[in-house]
Amino acid sequence: MNYRVPRTRKEIFETLIKGLQRLEYRGYDSAGVAIDGNNHEVKEKHIQLVKKKGKVKALDEELYKQDSMDLKVEFETHFGIAHTRWATHGVPSAVNSHPQRSDKGNEFVVIHNGIITNYKDLRKFLESKGYEFESETDTETIAKLIKYVFDNRETEDITFSTLVERVIQQLEGAFALVFKSIHYPGEAVATRRGSPLLIGVRSKYKLSTEQIPVLYRTCNIENVKMICKARMKRLDSSACLHAVGDKAVEFFFASDASAIIEHTNRVIFLEDDDIAAVADGKLSIHRIKRSASDDPSRAIQTLQMELQQIMKGNFSAFMQKEIFEQPESVFNTMRGRVNFETNTVLLGGLKDHLKEIRRCRRLIVIGCGTSYHAAVATRQVLEELTELPVMVELASDFLDRNTPVFRDDVCFFISQSGETADTLLALRYCKDRGALTVGVTNTVGSSISRETDCGVHINAGPEIGVASTKAYTSQFISLVMFGLMMSEDRISLQSRRQEIIRGLKSLPELIKEVLLLDEKIHDLALELYTQRSLLVMGRGYNYATCLEGALKIKEITYMHSEGILAGELKHGPLALIDKQMPVIMVIMKDPCFAKCQNALQQVTARQGRPIILCSRDDTESSKFAYKTIELPHTVDCLQGILSVIPLQLLSFHLAVLRGYDVDFPRNLAKSVTVE
Ligand code: G6P
Repeated sequence: MNYRVPRTRKEIFETLIKGLQRLEYRGYDSAGVAIDGNNHEVKEKHIQLVKKKGKVKALDEELYKQDSMDLKVEFETHFGIAHTRWATHGVPSAVNSHPQRSDKGNEFVVIHNGIITNYKDLRKFLESKGYEFESETDTETIAKLIKYVFDNRETEDITFSTLVERVIQQLEGAFALVFKSIHYPGEAVATRRGSPLLIGVRSKYKLSTEQIPVLYRTCNIENVKMICKARMKRLDSSACLHAVGDKAVEFFFASDASAIIEHTNRVIFLEDDDIAAVADGKLSIHRIKRSASDDPSRAIQTLQMELQQIMKGNFSAFMQKEIFEQPESVFNTMRGRVNFETNTVLLGGLKDHLKEIRRCRRLIVIGCGTSYHAAVATRQVLEELTELPVMVELASDFLDRNTPVFRDDVCFFISQSGETADTLLALRYCKDRGALTVGVTNTVGSSISRETDCGVHINAGPEIGVASTKAYTSQFISLVMFGLMMSEDRISLQSRRQEIIRGLKSLPELIKEVLLLDEKIHDLALELYTQRSLLVMGRGYNYATCLEGALKIKEITYMHSEGILAGELKHGPLALIDKQMPVIMVIMKDPCFAKCQNALQQVTARQGRPIILCSRDDTESSKFAYKTIELPHTVDCLQGILSVIPLQLLSFHLAVLRGYDVDFPRNLAKSVTVE
C-alpha cells in the first residue's frame, strides 16, 4: 500500500509480489493481485485483477505477460492488494483465489484470511437479490455483500469504512480483510476478527503521532450513516496518523510481519473488530464496540526481529512452531462446527450424506503414518458413539490384502496432504467397490478431497515440518466430531456426548498448560539424547499416543523407537527391559489405569526405570517412576491429544541435541506420492 510517494506500477507489483513470497510458507495453492487500472487512458476508474493457480512465482510471471499492463505508469497515490491462498472452501483455482470481487466490473475487491462460517446463508440471501456467484469461496460473499450495502446506501457520501463496518456486522467466523473499490480510489479499509492483521508504517518524516486514538461509534446501525458523516468530517490530525506537514507516508497492511519487514519495522497491531481506513494519506481507526483490552489507542511498535525469525515466529523450526500452534489449530478445527451451547456438532461437508452413513454396516478408517495413528487414536470413541464396527487400516496393508469392501461400507481416508499415493489408491479401490468415501484432509483441492464423495477439512493451516504434529491433533478432533454428529439423536449417549463436548471446549487451554512443560521435557531430552533406543508403552486410548510418539522419535532423531501395547508386554517386549533401556510409559486415569499399573510393576520388577506420563493427581504411578511428566486431566477419549504433545516436544529436543535438521529429516518426504 503506497501513499503520496510516486511509484511506478512495476514497483507496486514488486512490493506486492515480494510480500506474497514472504507469506508463501503459510499457504501456496494460488495467488492474486488487484491494482488500479490504466486510469490515465480510461476516464472511468477501474481495477485490474490478475489471479493464478499455483505458487506466487506463477502469478509474477503472469503479470508480466498481461498486454494491458503499462509497467511504467506512475501513481501519486496508490493502493494495491494481493493474497496467497491455502484453500478452505473450494478447490485451488484462479477463480477461487483472492482478491474476490463484487461483480464483473470489480467495483469492490477483497482479500481474506480466515473462514466465514455463515457464508452459505449470506450467499443464499445475496443470490435471492440477484447477485451471481462465480467461485465456491466463502470470501466471495463478502465482496458481494459490500456491494449490496453500497447499492442500498441511503446517502451518496457514505464512507468506505462505514460500508465495511456494516459488512462485518453480518459476518460470523474469523477474518482479516482488506478492501479496495473503484468508488473510493486510492483508499483502503482493513478489519479483523480472530485472524491477525497489522499495519506497517514507513515515512522518512516525523509522524503526527505514535498513538492513534480509536474512535468509537456507540450508535445503532440505523444511525451510523449520519454519525459517520459527522465523525468522518471531524477527523482531524488528533484522530489520524500521517506524516507531519503533508509529507510522504506509506502504509502496508499484512497478516504477518514477514510480508513487510523489509520496508518497515514500525507496526500497529489491530485488535478484533478494529476498522482501519486510509483516506487522503491519513490512517484512522474506529470501532463500534469497546475493545476487549479497552485501550483507547493503538501504538506504533518497533519490531526487532529478523525475517527468518518472523516466518518461524520465535521458534527455531517449523515443527516446533507447529507444535506450539496447537491451541489455535485445534480451535480452528472446531470453529463453527461445535456448538458448545446446544451441544451439537455440524460438519458441513458430511451433512448431506449423514443418513446414508448412519445406515452403513461398518466404518473403515484408512491412512498412512501419523494419519493412520489418528485413526487408531479415535477408534474406540468412534465405536462407542456410532455403535458400528470400526476397522482401522494402514493403506498399504489394506491394499496388499485385497480387503473385502462392500457397498454398505463407509470408508474414511485420513491424510494431511490429501496426496499420499497409498491412501489415494485405497480410496479408488473402495470407490470401485461401491462404498461411500469420506476424505479427512488438511488440503482442500487435493486428490483425496476431490475424489471422495464427501469430507471434512481439518483446518489446521499449512504444515511445513515433515514430521506431522498439529495435523494429528486436528485429525483426531475431526474424527471425534464425526462421532458426535453421528450420535446426536441417541438418547442413551447424551450425557457422554456432553462430557466430550465440554472436554473439546477446554482443550485449547489445556494444550497451553501442556506446552508449559517444554523446559522440563528439554531437560529430559538432555538425559536421553545419546541413547540408541527408546520404548514408548501404553494401552487403551493411549496406545496411539505411543505409536505416534515413537514415530516422531524415529522420523527426526533417527533413534530406534517402538510404540508398544502394554497388554502385549509379557508376550515379547518384556525381554527388552533392563536397567539401561529407556522406557516411557503413558498411564492415564482411564479405564485401563489398573492394567497399566500392572505393566508398570512388571517393568520395575526387571529393574526398568520408567519415565511416566501421567495425570497430575496420580500419586500411585509416580511412586514407581524414575521421572514423571504430569499432565492435566481431560475426558478419557480426548486425553491422547494432550499426552502426545510431550512426545512431540521430546522428539524435537532430541533431534536438536543430536544435531539433525528437524524440519527435513533424511530420506523422508512430507507428501509421499509414490506407492
Ligand atoms: C509421509 C510423512 C508422514 C505422514 C505420512 C502420511 O510418510 O512423512 O509424516 O504422516 O506421509 O501423510 P498424509 O499427508 O497422507 O497425512
